[in-house]
Amino acid sequence: MVNYSEAVVATGLVIRRGRVEVLHGIDVHVPSGQIVGLLGPSGSGKTTLMRTIVGAQRITAGEVRVLGRPAGERSLRSAVGYMSQSPAIYDDLTVEQNLDYFRRVLRAPRADVARVIQEVGLGEVATRMVANLSGGQRSRVSLGIALLGTPRLLVLDEPTVGLDPALRQELWELFRRLADSGATLLVSSHVMDEARRCDRLLLVRDGRIVADDTPSGLLTATGATDHDDAFLRIIAHETEAAA
Ligand SMILES: Nc1ncnc2c1ncn2[C@@H]1O[C@H](COP(=O)(O)OP(=O)(O)OP(=O)(O)O)[C@@H](O)[C@H]1O
Ligand SMILES: [Mg+2]
Repeated sequence: MVNYSEAVVATGLVIRRGRVEVLHGIDVHVPSGQIVGLLGPSGSGKTTLMRTIVGAQRITAGEVRVLGRPAGERSLRSAVGYMSQSPAIYDDLTVEQNLDYFRRVLRAPRADVARVIQEVGLGEVATRMVANLSGGQRSRVSLGIALLGTPRLLVLDEPTVGLDPALRQELWELFRRLADSGATLLVSSHVMDEARRCDRLLLVRDGRIVADDTPSGLLTATGATDHDDAFLRIIAHETEAAA
């Protein structure tokens, strides 16, 4: 029996990139219909885990199931939206043209272009060449592409990086609406302040999951007052245990 209450289940996942083992046999659960934050220092393995979930990374050992299917399976293509950390968009096309191009590739309905432009708040620059956009606007084009076709799972790698607080707030409201309508979101971030907006948090450090809890559960478990502090306490605790 397939368990659809979990959008992503990774078991004993080992990923090697080049000669380096980046993920060391981790178990990951992403419950359906929730926003799960993937937090951890630079180089801890967030992007690697996300690439694996969307099927862009060869699995060294272990298993990853996405919406009940093996990660990367063809049938998952339209069910999973991915916003990568480095935007893969065309500079010499307008915002609209970029979205229209990708919606054709994804065989998403034509009406998605206008819907997505509105969702990510790019109406005023829709006919502008992407080369002439700000960093935050470019990353919103990239987010828009991930939203085409209304995927059931959204994997967003640092979607709010470089955005001002007002825009960040707007995007988190959009994420919440998407989750309310049944989508599952896995969102990575460096900004611990965004942790409180998630339903669950996965903290990664050196290719291992060091916490998997609700935002409030994590504060209670560590006795910390904010998530930055909670993370530092978990690291200190681990270091002590290893000594
Ligand atoms: N193409 C690659 N070949 C070999 N090693 C890589 C490659 N890409 C990343 N790595 C290594 O894998 C580890 C995890 O990288 P990853 O990009 O997953 O981290 P991250 O948590 O997403 O970091 P950041 O917050 O900076 O985006 C790092 O040690 C990195 O150097
Ligand atoms: Mg990364």
